[in-house]
Amino acid sequence: MPHAHTEFNTADLLAGRPVFWGQGLTPLTPVEDPSAELITPAAVAEVAQRFARFAPLMALLFDSVAAHSGVIESPLLPVPQLQRALGLSSDHGALYVKADHQLPIAGSVKARGGTHEVIEFAERLALRHGLITPEADYRALASPQARALFGQYTVAVGSTGNLGLAIGTMAAALGFRAEVHMSADAKDWKKRRLRGLGVHVVEHPGDYASAVAAGRRNAADHPHCHFVDDEHSTSLFLGYANAASHLAQQLHASGRVVDAEHPLFVYLPCGVGGAPGGIAYGLHLTYGRHVHCIFAEPTASPCFLMQLLAGSDALPTASHNPSVYDIGLDNRTEADGLAVPQASLLAAAVAGPRVAGAYTVADDTLFQHLYLAQTTEGLRIEPSAAAGFSGPRMLLDTNQGRHYLASQGIGPEALQQATHIAWLTGGMLVPEAEYQAFVERGKSMEKRGV
Ligand SMILES: Cc1ncc(COP(=O)(O)O)c(C=O)c1O
Repeated sequence: MPHAHTEFNTADLLAGRPVFWGQGLTPLTPVEDPSAELITPAAVAEVAQRFARFAPLMALLFDSVAAHSGVIESPLLPVPQLQRALGLSSDHGALYVKADHQLPIAGSVKARGGTHEVIEFAERLALRHGLITPEADYRALASPQARALFGQYTVAVGSTGNLGLAIGTMAAALGFRAEVHMSADAKDWKKRRLRGLGVHVVEHPGDYASAVAAGRRNAADHPHCHFVDDEHSTSLFLGYANAASHLAQQLHASGRVVDAEHPLFVYLPCGVGGAPGGIAYGLHLTYGRHVHCIFAEPTASPCFLMQLLAGSDALPTASHNPSVYDIGLDNRTEADGLAVPQASLLAAAVAGPRVAGAYTVADDTLFQHLYLAQTTEGLRIEPSAAAGFSGPRMLLDTNQGRHYLASQGIGPEALQQATHIAWLTGGMLVPEAEYQAFVERGKSMEKRGV
């Protein structure tokens, strides 16, 4: 096959058309980040222990997790009807969804990292002030003394919406003051919901990066303010990485084997890269080269893909941390959680070498898939969460995707035994009227055969 056939298609990326990139197409320039060395298997294990220590308190604070002994988790679901609707036969393996759109507390994948960073901060404060010991019953953190301590501190975050929901909800439940800096992309209902919880919502006219920068500046002036830095936080990243061990149990319980003959493909909607990067890191610890994590981004906001291509000839910019604006894209997408112009260097440093690939998807396709997910399987998701559904076809139908499969020695027999997981990253809390508008748009796309 001539080399040109499988080259990465820069012209399509620049024109905002869907593209696929797989490892091996361009040489990766290693990304350095000072915090990357804190992301270790031992640190992931510590997160699991911390969540276990907090589980009784979580059950006390949130009815939604009480029935699950305080564990914040979501089901892994087979979706055979959706698989057929997406044009995937049994020759391509089996499609599942990881239902993080139903995750308690925040209704999105952000509940994983967001709750972790808040409980880690609370634990540090409470230990320092002698309110608990590591062996204590952490329900003591719901006491008036603990709440009085937490009430002296503000937890702040910059967000396109869902991280703000997770941080704001968890922080408010423990008695912290909470401040969420929202970008212009953030949906009104997310702001309303937070204000209803007593969270201070600061609206910024700019994009995600400027909301984060404003929150970071604001926090720097206040010693009693803990700023959750979505671009740099190891605590968030490790909270996402913790997803892998539970998923491994679920795959095992579903009889899905993962090895050289049974590859696992995981399609992860990507904004700044923390959530998909952390999950990819965790899955790599468990499955090594048998898991293939593929990041999904809107055609208008492919910041992580650009980060992977940084330093190569495939991009018309020499920046080491390129922005989508550098190449003439506008970062305008209905997938608000993914509307991010520049990738996290921490996520790129840790997850970059471990991802199998990345692709982009047009907004119209997101809505069409949102509609199909509803009509075939009754899944209620938001547009960002639909980004994973294009993954299998991008892998199977593009020259670049096929090149990746061939480079990994994955032939028809292994494909037949493959497991594909589309990670559904948000949706449960979307108000009915907004959700119906999404469905209507998706329905019209489906009729037009987008
Ligand atoms: C629904 C949804 N999916 C995916 C993501 C991507 O996560 P990250 O920005 O950490 O890459 C977000 C981020 O807010 C989100 O809200």
